[in-house]
Amino acid sequence: MAEEKPLTVVTCTAPVNIAVIKYWGKRDEELILPINSSLSVTLHQDQLKTTTTAAISRDFKEDRLWLNGEEADVGHPRLQSCLREMRRLARKRRGGSAGAAAPLSLAYKVHVASVNNFPTAAGLASSAAGYACLVHTLARLYGVEGELSEVARQGSGSACRSMHGGFVQWLMGERPDGKDSIAQQVAPETHWPELRVLILVVSAEKKPVGSTAGMQTSVDTSLLLKHRAEAVVPERMSQMIQFIQQRDFEGFGQLTMKDSNQFHATCLDTFPPIFYLNDVSRHIIALAHRFNAHHGKTKVAYTFDAGPNAVVFTLADTVEEFVEVVKCSFPPESNGDQFLKGLPARPALLSKELLSAVVLEPVPGAIRYILLTKPGPGPQPLDDPNLHLLGADGLPCPSA
Ligand code: DP6
Repeated sequence: MAEEKPLTVVTCTAPVNIAVIKYWGKRDEELILPINSSLSVTLHQDQLKTTTTAAISRDFKEDRLWLNGEEADVGHPRLQSCLREMRRLARKRRGGSAGAAAPLSLAYKVHVASVNNFPTAAGLASSAAGYACLVHTLARLYGVEGELSEVARQGSGSACRSMHGGFVQWLMGERPDGKDSIAQQVAPETHWPELRVLILVVSAEKKPVGSTAGMQTSVDTSLLLKHRAEAVVPERMSQMIQFIQQRDFEGFGQLTMKDSNQFHATCLDTFPPIFYLNDVSRHIIALAHRFNAHHGKTKVAYTFDAGPNAVVFTLADTVEEFVEVVKCSFPPESNGDQFLKGLPARPALLSKELLSAVVLEPVPGAIRYILLTKPGPGPQPLDDPNLHLLGADGLPCPSA
C-alpha cells in the first residue's frame, strides 16, 4: 500500500465578477435558482482576487474555516451545501473509476483558509470570488472535474459566474433540480483587449440590506421585477451577447447602464423600498451622462450592484481623461497620490470646454479611491507551496 502523506494541500485563486445584466431574485432559495439569466465580466485577479487553501488530513478532528485570518462558522448552510456537493462528486468519481488509487479518504475532515486582496468592507462582491475559489480549490483537492458552476451557485448565485474568465452568462435553466442553471463563457478575456474597468469606491459602510434578503423581498412584492424577468431580460441577454461579440461599446455601454438603472428601479419598487444608491452614486451617474453627451457618444458606462460603489466600463483610450474628470469632480482630500490604484494611468490635461461642460459642482472627498482593472481569467491554481495559507500543522500561517 502506498504511504499516505500526512497532509494534502491545494491553493487556488478566483476572480470577482461584475454583472452587466443583473441577477436579482430567486425561484428556489435552497438551490439558488434565479428568476432570470444574467451576464457578467470577470475582473482581473492582479487587482481583485480571493486566495483559498484547502487541506485534508487523517489527523483533523473537524471541518474548520478561516476567513481573512479569523476563524469562521463552518456550519453556514451555503458553505455546507458546497462541501457536501464536492464530497458527493468526489465519491461519484471514485465509484466511476473502480480500482483507481484513492490517495485520500473522503471521510477526512477539511481545513479551509481564505483571504481577499481587497477590503471586504469596500462593498465589492467578495462572496462571488470566495465561493468560486472554495469550489475550485476543493475540486482540485478531490480530483473532481467537469461542470462546477452548479456547485458554486449553491454558495452564492453570482459565484457561478466567477468560475470562468472573460464574459460569462448564467443561464437560468428550467429544471427544478438546477442541473441546467449553469454559467458559460460567452467570450474569453482576450476578446476585447481595450476594455477597462474603473471601480469608484464611494464608501466603506456596510450595505443596509444584503442581496439575499433584498432580492427575496423584491420577488415577494415587486411587479416590476416580475415584468423585468419575464419580458425584459431574455431579449437583453441576446442583445448583450451580440454587443460583446461585435465589441460594440456604444451598445454594450448603453445596455449596461439601462440594466443597472432597471435593477435599482426594481429595488425602489420593492415594498418597503430598498435604496442602494446614495447621493454620490447619483452624482457619478449624472457625470457619466454629461461626459458622454460632451463627446457625442457613449465613452463611459456605469453599473451599480447592491451598494453605492460605481463600476465604470470604458476603453483604454478614454481612461486617463475620465480618471482626471473624476479627480476634478471629487477632489481627493488627503490621498492625492494614492487616489488611483491598480493598473497605471498617466495624468491627463483636460480642455476648458470639457471642464466647463462636465465638471459642475465638485464634491471633495466623496470618492475614496479609484481601482483600475480589466477583464481577466477564471480561477487559477497556485502551485508554489510557499503561497499556501495553511502550514504543515494545518493551521493558518501567521501571514495569512
Ligand atoms: C446585485 O449573488 O450576492 O450583485 O445568490 O443570495 O448570494 P445570493 O446573492 P448574490 O447577488 C448578487 C446581486 C447583484 C447582481 C449580480 O451580481 O448579478
